[in-house]
Amino acid sequence: MTKLQKKDINISLTKNPKQKPDQSNLGFGNHFTDHMFTMEWNVDKGWYNPQIVEYAYIPMSPALISLHYGQSIFEGMKAYIANGEPVLFRPEENFKRLNQSAERLALPQIDEDFALTALKTLLEIEKDWIPTLEGTSLYIRPFMFGADEFLGVKASSNVKFIIILSPSGAYFKDGLQPNKIFVEDEYVRAVRGGTGYAKAAGNYAGSLLGQKKAEKYGYAQTLWLDGVEQKYVEEVGAMNIFFKIDGKYVTPELNGSILPGITRDSIIKLLKHNGEVVEERKISIDEIYEAADNNKLEEVFGTGTAAVISPVGELFDGKKKVVINNFETGEATTKIYNQLTGIQLGKVEDSFNWVHKVK
Ligand SMILES: Cc1ncc(COP(=O)(O)O)c(C=O)c1O
Repeated sequence: MTKLQKKDINISLTKNPKQKPDQSNLGFGNHFTDHMFTMEWNVDKGWYNPQIVEYAYIPMSPALISLHYGQSIFEGMKAYIANGEPVLFRPEENFKRLNQSAERLALPQIDEDFALTALKTLLEIEKDWIPTLEGTSLYIRPFMFGADEFLGVKASSNVKFIIILSPSGAYFKDGLQPNKIFVEDEYVRAVRGGTGYAKAAGNYAGSLLGQKKAEKYGYAQTLWLDGVEQKYVEEVGAMNIFFKIDGKYVTPELNGSILPGITRDSIIKLLKHNGEVVEERKISIDEIYEAADNNKLEEVFGTGTAAVISPVGELFDGKKKVVINNFETGEATTKIYNQLTGIQLGKVEDSFNWVHKVK
């Protein structure tokens, strides 16, 4: 199978560009740019037909295999304007993770270099869609799904890969705000040996009822515990989690059932670079409660592409309530947030070489 290159991408530009939305009121996931990248795969042909076309509905059969059996994965990353130029943050890590998800869902591997080339080509066309107001970004959603018209449980022989772009608003409009998190000990999100480490669409469907329950109690998100003993902390809805306990940072180890977050990895590297102690290990919810009772739970924050860093001000499991740092954003959380967003926006030295120019 021949290796696809930039020159193989067929580009057909829209004749009807849309009006760009108001940057001060974008929200998340509401608006889509003029174009998308699409590519197809067939078990005999490999990947073919890479193209950039007008963003439009995609025709599908009611027997589309992935609608019925969930053979569908995705990624999430952002483009920003840093010093006047479009940039990406560690995009190669997202395509690497897409391939890890693809392997777990019996979907084909993509050529990670070509996927990045395709994304950069699309961004060059759509660069005027990258919002510039503080805190805004262009959210990038690559996804892949089984495209056979067939009602049987099997790995699809035809697959589609698409990248769409969505200008998104600032996650925190008035500075970092602590969140209230509900500790879920009834439902579980993933089990070891399952698909928890993959960005599989079904993982999110399975989390919705827990999320609804958290909202019913007045909590913004769910903290998932492990699927076997419901004792060890795993992750929050769309974030990994860090605890600062007695001067050290602790985050759950990558055990196969949590998503290996790219923000998580970046924060671990930055904290170590700053001379902090970081432990990746099993951490039980009882250990967190005990640390809080002994005044050793200093700060808690979530990490993920959407919010970058999200301070946690309260944990509640239906019985036990823990308030962290008087429900205020702590110094350590603010420092690491400023450091990472500073690198992303080209205001702080990028000593890890994480920021990629689009051109
Ligand atoms: C379940 C889950 N955990 C963690 C994360 C954070 O990952 P990242 O930092 O790569 O965005 C996400 C977001 O993608 C997620 O969906």
